[in-house]
Amino acid sequence: MTLQTDFQLKQYNTFGIEAKARYFARFESVGELQQLLQLPEVQPLEKLVLGGGSNLLFTKDFDGFVLQNGIKGIEVLRENEEEVYIKAGGGETWHDFVLYALQHNYGGVENLSLIPGTVGAAPLQNIGAYGVELKDVFEELEAVHLQTGQVHSFDNATCKFGYRESIFKNDLKGQYVVTSVIFRLSKTHTLNTSYGAIKTTLEEMQVQHPSIQDVSAAVCHIRQSKLPDPKQIGNAGSFFKNPEIPLQLFEQLRQQFPGIPSYPVSETTVKVPAGWLIEQCGWKGKVIGNYGVHKNQALVLVNYGGAKGEHVRQLAFDIIASIEEKFGIRLHPEVNIL
Ligand code: EPU
Repeated sequence: MTLQTDFQLKQYNTFGIEAKARYFARFESVGELQQLLQLPEVQPLEKLVLGGGSNLLFTKDFDGFVLQNGIKGIEVLRENEEEVYIKAGGGETWHDFVLYALQHNYGGVENLSLIPGTVGAAPLQNIGAYGVELKDVFEELEAVHLQTGQVHSFDNATCKFGYRESIFKNDLKGQYVVTSVIFRLSKTHTLNTSYGAIKTTLEEMQVQHPSIQDVSAAVCHIRQSKLPDPKQIGNAGSFFKNPEIPLQLFEQLRQQFPGIPSYPVSETTVKVPAGWLIEQCGWKGKVIGNYGVHKNQALVLVNYGGAKGEHVRQLAFDIIASIEEKFGIRLHPEVNIL
């Protein structure tokens, strides 16, 4: 847990953007984290905790203290005939945790296969994909308060989970480090294959009675065909959230754009896929020098190598403006822009 200065973060964000941190350190236990937080040189500084750095866009150097969560470990806490409660360290890679669950035949996270990032970052934005969200399997987390170093527990209700939202992105933003998460996984599985693409992929795979491993394989296949691998092309997954709009506005838009897709949210609101809106505005596959919009999924902005964060941010602003003009809908970034 050495404290390093003037530290290059390029390898620590999946966008692969160059930016330096004034101080950087990695911790592997709650005790190490508490010691680091007490160092006098970092105490007054702004702090940023990195998981996999998969939901971040640096637009300048970070004049503060970047901490990397390296807390590992996966253990079964308790179990009964139907369920198992598993505690995972915040620094575990999310997909490694999914693989552990699949190996032990514990269900609930198979639809969340291959999401980049760490276990500790997953609750912050309530990661979700293909009809499942983290909150569906979440029991409790432990987090360290950055100011006091005290350890606090948060249950499902206290986390105030929403669509890509939690209390840690709102009221408690920047105040806590998630050090471990307890999940409630199943031994007798209820599969969620309602998402169209999963059904089609399982049919293509000629699987008639899918297991959780089959569902995971289908999800991996879909993701790999649509989403760029951050190891090859810098990106942070969906750059924007899918906007929720009033049903009335949606009905008006449908007159003009009969093909507009939607998912119901409530009796008065629907969600519209931002990827569709972006594609309609002609941005899909657009390349501007060394960055652009991904060719298979317009929701993903990409860095082909050497792009500057401020340029990617400008591209995001231009996309937001053009969608507002054409559809009267304002997109909001999902990625944390720093
Ligand atoms: N679409 C287009 N053009 C595009 C992309 C999408 O027309 O370029 C249309 C598709 O045809 C489809 C609809 O938009 O009708 C939905 O597309 P997709 O199934 O790819 O899902 P999404 O709504 O674009 C969301 C999540 C993804 C998650 C998928 C699957 C958000 C912001 N994104 O994308 O999450 O993997 O659903 O559940 O909610 C992430 O958060 O980083 C992420 C990748």
